[in-house]
Amino acid sequence: MEGVQGRSDKLQGASAVIPRSRLRVWFIRACSSIVLWTCLFQLVTVSELWRSHFFLGITSRIHHTIQRPPQAHNELVHPPPTFLPPRNYTSNGFLRVYCNGGLNQMRAAICDMVAISRLLNLTLVVPELDKKSFWADPSNFEDIFDVRHFIDSLQDEVRIVKRVPKRFSRKSEQTILKMPPISWSNEKYYMEQILPLFGKHKVVHFNKTDARLANNGLPLDLQKLRCRVNFQALKFTPELENLGQKLIRILSKNGPFVALHLRYEMDMLAFSGCTLGCTNEEAEELKRMRYAFPSWREKEIVSEERRLQGLCPLTPEEAALILQALGFDRETPIYLAAGEIYGGERRLAQLRAAFPRIIKKETLLANDELQQFRNHSSQMAALDFIVSVASNTFVPTYYGNMAKLVEGHRRYSGFKKSILLDRKKLVELLDMHQNGTLPWNEFANAVRNVHERRMGQPTRRRVEADKPKEEDYFYANPYECLCEGTKCDDLLGALNSSQIQ
Ligand SMILES: *[C@@H]1O[C@H](CO)[C@@H](O)[C@H](O)[C@H]1NC(C)=O
Ligand SMILES: *[C@@H]1O[C@H](CO)[C@@H](O)[C@H](O)[C@H]1NC(C)=O
Ligand SMILES: *[C@@H]1O[C@H](CO)[C@@H](O)[C@H](O)[C@H]1NC(C)=O
Ligand SMILES: *[C@@H]1O[C@H](CO)[C@@H](O)[C@H](O)[C@H]1NC(C)=O
Ligand SMILES: *[C@@H]1O[C@H](CO)[C@@H](O)[C@H](O)[C@H]1NC(C)=O
Ligand SMILES: *[C@@H]1O[C@H](CO)[C@@H](O)[C@H](O)[C@H]1NC(C)=O
Repeated sequence: MEGVQGRSDKLQGASAVIPRSRLRVWFIRACSSIVLWTCLFQLVTVSELWRSHFFLGITSRIHHTIQRPPQAHNELVHPPPTFLPPRNYTSNGFLRVYCNGGLNQMRAAICDMVAISRLLNLTLVVPELDKKSFWADPSNFEDIFDVRHFIDSLQDEVRIVKRVPKRFSRKSEQTILKMPPISWSNEKYYMEQILPLFGKHKVVHFNKTDARLANNGLPLDLQKLRCRVNFQALKFTPELENLGQKLIRILSKNGPFVALHLRYEMDMLAFSGCTLGCTNEEAEELKRMRYAFPSWREKEIVSEERRLQGLCPLTPEEAALILQALGFDRETPIYLAAGEIYGGERRLAQLRAAFPRIIKKETLLANDELQQFRNHSSQMAALDFIVSVASNTFVPTYYGNMAKLVEGHRRYSGFKKSILLDRKKLVELLDMHQNGTLPWNEFANAVRNVHERRMGQPTRRRVEADKPKEEDYFYANPYECLCEGTKCDDLLGALNSSQIQ
């Protein structure tokens, strides 16, 4: 029987019996991976920085294939920093930016703002972070990211300063132009519309930064700079990095683990209007919250319609069934990458019953280790980000900014498996299973079939002319940065067959 356990993919414990034919398949996969990566590597002439990441790609790929737990790979990820000399250019002015949104939306925005500063020869002021979003985290840039590293490691491209010099900030606020740039713009907009503004106002302040730069059609060196910021210049503070690595060490002791980004948190539910499984009181509370929050414009929402359109995060109960259908057995260690689950332990009961080894950072670490981060939602999210990137398998229950940014990082570290759920298809299958029209085996097979090609394999982004929201997000799959120039065809061509998984 090709049952649930038989397809337990990368996650069977040491005690599981592995059929010989599967071993052979793995062996062939391992060999072909090595050959492919070796060819690729020889074809590509790249700078030292990029090269070290190809090594990382190769090693993590091999480890993945032969089922090792992830390394505490900090030695590989962080070579001793050697910074290039500063670029000598005449600055056209100062760019101040206020990043709106949660940690990962801000992260992508920071990368975009560096790229825009480079394009326009500006001096970037270290970005201000959102303190007014739902969770009201008062953290500044330097509380989350290593600000010295950010400035120094980019000095060969862009000048970055901690604040606008006094002689400009002393002038009245009127000489500072405050504006949100137009979403999804390309380099022409910034050169033609934005650059001239710096002639009159020496300081321009972007008061909104999410998705201000197009996904596609930008010059290759700008795309690569976005990646360089994302993958190299933005490092978390040593405190966050060390605690994240500690979590990874503890988790890896027990073999491969899944990071489940269970986006079943109060803000998500209030915002999306999804209330399946909530009590009436909870549904009312979420609704009140949505009406009270000014930036959540859409107020009247019919939860069930939303869900059928695939727009709701999976509930914890749905997540349990989907993980089982995907072949994860009850011994699988599952790291819960999430803040507080709405409804608390009551809503987690079914997931815990199916996966007793489910665990979260609050239980893995001593109280005082987490204390300094606890009231800072972005810092807590940073820990989940670090663990999610390093996990053996990543499963996000909602395709938001965290899911996308983690996906991009996992592609970058050797196309590690990220199961990108097709929620529209899944709710259909779940409903059919639950009303008895689809027996378990057929349900499980269908769930696996839907996701065979949704595991974070190498591929190009989907481009939708004039519909930037519908196309694939740059940071989820920055394929330009995962291969070099025309060699992309080798990588994407060679690896698009069923060999990948
Ligand atoms: C930077 O470039 C300008 C103009 O090309 C030149 O006058 C100046 O000496 C350069 N500065 C440095 C530090 O190289
Ligand atoms: C930026 O500076 C470089 C020289 O470093 C110059 O070639 C380029 O034209 C400048 N671009 C803008 C938009 O000022
Ligand atoms: C940004 O600044 C402009 C001009 O002051 C203002 O109209 C707009 O409401 C501001 N937007 C945000 C999100 O603060
Ligand atoms: C966190 O915030 C809560 C509520 O605002 C407060 O009661 C608690 O003392 C704070 N904890 C820390 C460690 O600052
Ligand atoms: C079961 O659910 C599916 C999907 O919602 C629906 O199409 C079907 O009619 C239902 N069947 C029964 C017997 O309720
Ligand atoms: C990759 O996919 C494309 C289009 O689906 C196909 O034409 C090509 O032959 C595939 N390459 C390999 C090596 O399978």
